[in-house]
Order: sequence, then C-alpha cells, then structure tokens
Amino acid sequence: MKGNDKKDILSTALKSMNKEHDMIKEILNKINYAYNNKLNTTIKKKLINELYIFLDFHFTSEENMLTMFDYPDYDKHKEEHDHMKYHLAEIIGTLDVEEIDFEELKNFIYESLHIHTQKSDAELTKHLKTQYDSL
Ligand SMILES: [Fe+2]
Ligand SMILES: [Fe+2]
Repeated sequence: MKGNDKKDILSTALKSMNKEHDMIKEILNKINYAYNNKLNTTIKKKLINELYIFLDFHFTSEENMLTMFDYPDYDKHKEEHDHMKYHLAEIIGTLDVEEIDFEELKNFIYESLHIHTQKSDAELTKHLKTQYDSL
C-alpha cells in the first residue's frame, strides 16, 4: 500500500511543497489583481485571509516534515516562519483592508517570503532529498 514507507512520505512531501509554493504565488497574483483592478473590500479581505490561512497551513506542514526527518536547523527555520506569520498578522491587523498598506504587504511578501523560499526552503529540500537518496 502506498504512503506507508519513508520513501513515499518523502517523495510526496517534496512534490507537495513545490505545489504549495506555486499556490502561494497564485494567491499573491489574485491579491495583486484585486488591488490593481480596485475590486471591492470584501474580496480583498477574503483573499488576504486566504493567504494567511494557506501560509499557516504550509508552514505547519513544513515544520512537521522537519521534525519527522530530524532537520538540524529546525529552530531557525521555525523562527523565520513565526516571524513572517506575526509580521503578516500585524499588517493585516483588524482586517480593515482599506487601511492595509498594500506596498508594505507586497514588500513583505516579495522580500521575506521569496528569500525564505529561495534559501531556507531550498536547504530543507536538500535535506529531505538526501534522506530520500539514502534509502
Ligand atoms: Fe515554504
Ligand atoms: Fe519554510
């Protein structure tokens, strides 16, 4: 049965991580579109909420993989996730989207999240691939 051994778990998780990174980009594109096309407040609010929920899920999912497969830099990785989550929550604030500084939101996302994905997640992926290859 599929999904029972370490190799299956690792290969599925690696694929899912990439998919989730693409999904984050997809949500960001929708937010960008909503602001550029001046869509209504309710939609913007819902999209930003979608981003927050998805990031929360994605970070939790990565952290679980880190714990399951003994990642040596777990604390540092989780710290970066927590920092991004708190910062995003801070920007969102009361979820009064008219007051959200969209430039700040964009800078946060494109800078912190992009750097995290390119560097820290790349290291995490390398660790998981090494584990996979050793099996
Ligand atoms: Fe990630
Ligand atoms: Fe991460």
